[in-house]
Amino acid sequence: MTATPPEAPADCRLCPRLATYRDEVRAKHPDWFNGAVPSFGDEAASLLVVGLAPGVTGAHKTGRPFTGDYAGDLLYATLHKFGFANAAFDARPDDGLELYNTMITNAVRCVPPQNKPVGAEINTCRPFMMARIAALPELKAIVCLGGISHASLVRGFGARQAAHKFAHQAQHDIDGYRIFDSYHCSRYNTNTGRLTPEMFEAVFADVASFLN
Ligand code: URA
Repeated sequence: MTATPPEAPADCRLCPRLATYRDEVRAKHPDWFNGAVPSFGDEAASLLVVGLAPGVTGAHKTGRPFTGDYAGDLLYATLHKFGFANAAFDARPDDGLELYNTMITNAVRCVPPQNKPVGAEINTCRPFMMARIAALPELKAIVCLGGISHASLVRGFGARQAAHKFAHQAQHDIDGYRIFDSYHCSRYNTNTGRLTPEMFEAVFADVASFLN
């Protein structure tokens, strides 16, 4: 058996529902990226940020994680504030954005209908996430954006969920990595006040002090 690569092929069809949805969106918008969105950033990263899945008018359209939808505005501004990115983010893949010691990936690489991947899709995509982690030799810290990426990661490491409960700003040590939990930086979470910019920054302040 060949090992899972860290990146899914752009035309991955392992999840039938997601592949069909991609086909539907591609038929309407043939000029969009319309594929499994690859991770973005530094292969020498000591920090990996794990989102949920591409947004349909964001990463699915542009081909870069958190690019083109609201969630990226807060994520990239915060990464810049803590020295993990330059200030070039302009929600276009050709904006000149660079990440420093950081990579961004998604627990599910293809856009799910209604932004909601089902359990089987999360399970099917997990080997790509774990291969991504294994392919980063300098990796020390992982930020999980939301409970789904946290639970998938804990499962990927074969650790007990009960021993590693998701909570905003919680930290967990698993397999030699420090996991930092955050509520997802989605528009919904920020509009409802579940996540404020200050709460989000507090997570990255913890990461920065851990890595320094
Ligand atoms: N865009 C992504 O790439 N991932 C998310 O989790 C949300 C938006």
